[in-house]
Amino acid sequence: MNVGVLTGGGDCPGLNPVIRAVVRKGLKDFEYEFTGIRWGWKGLLEKDTCKLDLDGVSGILHVGGTILGTSRTNLFKIEGGPEKAVNSLKELKIDALVAIGGDDTLGVAKHLYEEFKIQVVGVPKTIDNDLSGTDYTFGFDTAVFIATEAIDRLHSTAASHERIMVVEVMGRSAGWIAIMSGIAGGADVIVTPEFPLTVEDICDLIEHRWARGKHFSVVCVSEGAKILWRSGEKKEVLASDEVDAFGNVKLGGVGSVLAREIKRITGREVRDTTLAYIQRGGSPTHRDRVLGTRYGVKAIEMVAKGEWGKMAALKGDDIVSVPLSMAVDTKHLVTKEWWELAQIFMG
Ligand code: F6P
Repeated sequence: MNVGVLTGGGDCPGLNPVIRAVVRKGLKDFEYEFTGIRWGWKGLLEKDTCKLDLDGVSGILHVGGTILGTSRTNLFKIEGGPEKAVNSLKELKIDALVAIGGDDTLGVAKHLYEEFKIQVVGVPKTIDNDLSGTDYTFGFDTAVFIATEAIDRLHSTAASHERIMVVEVMGRSAGWIAIMSGIAGGADVIVTPEFPLTVEDICDLIEHRWARGKHFSVVCVSEGAKILWRSGEKKEVLASDEVDAFGNVKLGGVGSVLAREIKRITGREVRDTTLAYIQRGGSPTHRDRVLGTRYGVKAIEMVAKGEWGKMAALKGDDIVSVPLSMAVDTKHLVTKEWWELAQIFMG
């Protein structure tokens, strides 16, 4: 069997451990051949591939990004795209596909399976942790580790100057990175898309701290959170008018707008920092290396069993398989329980 492997969507730490595990397990126990598809679904349209063997996946476990490259290509938005991709699979003699990605990439995989009977299995990737059907995606732990360290560093400079520091983290529709790094780093206010706070609420929390002698604050905000005012006015902050192939807007900048508003209302000194792609780059944590490795091994076992249209997933401490539809049809958002835990430490 010739198994194609591709990585799609935004890169994240842990992609290489998955690729390595798929190939190592597949060579060892099933004697499969592997074709790496470059630049996600784009590589399938262009038949841009490489051979993946033992040597090719050596020395990549700790390396960030993806050795295959990635892109945000939506086959279903390209005229004749899906048919062309299906033909490429035939011409390249690829029998089965391991698609590693978030909701967009796995959404394409789901359609290829349902509409064209392509033999595909998925692996859940995203720093945002917003995929349903799994407890955690790989890449999230590394992003939280980086954001937590940033909050720690911002604390000491905030305290030294009696300043308010606003730190913007990623998280398009889900505030998981903000909640987890905010709890871990002891942020004084956490702002997520799921549990909106008005700018006046945020300032009240900061002033409450001031009143008890804490003359600094760290505010951790998800890029996807909206700016709200008690008047009912609302603002979504975008980095540009660009929309990607899946219709996603380009977020970024909510932290600096929020910082300006806090300064206007409190009159205090405020600074802002945006972590952006720093959260996506570099070496994966041990947890993402191990999770990625377990997902990769499971994915190739699913190929061997013919579990098409499914995705490797984490449930408790077990790696299981779930239908791709379970992963992509709804978003995994921050729950009330997590929000209540975070709130205990705010203000
Ligand atoms: O989906 C993951 C993510 O990192 C989001 O948090 C962020 O909004 C987006 O990707 C950025 O994507 P791009 O790489 O296209 O700028």
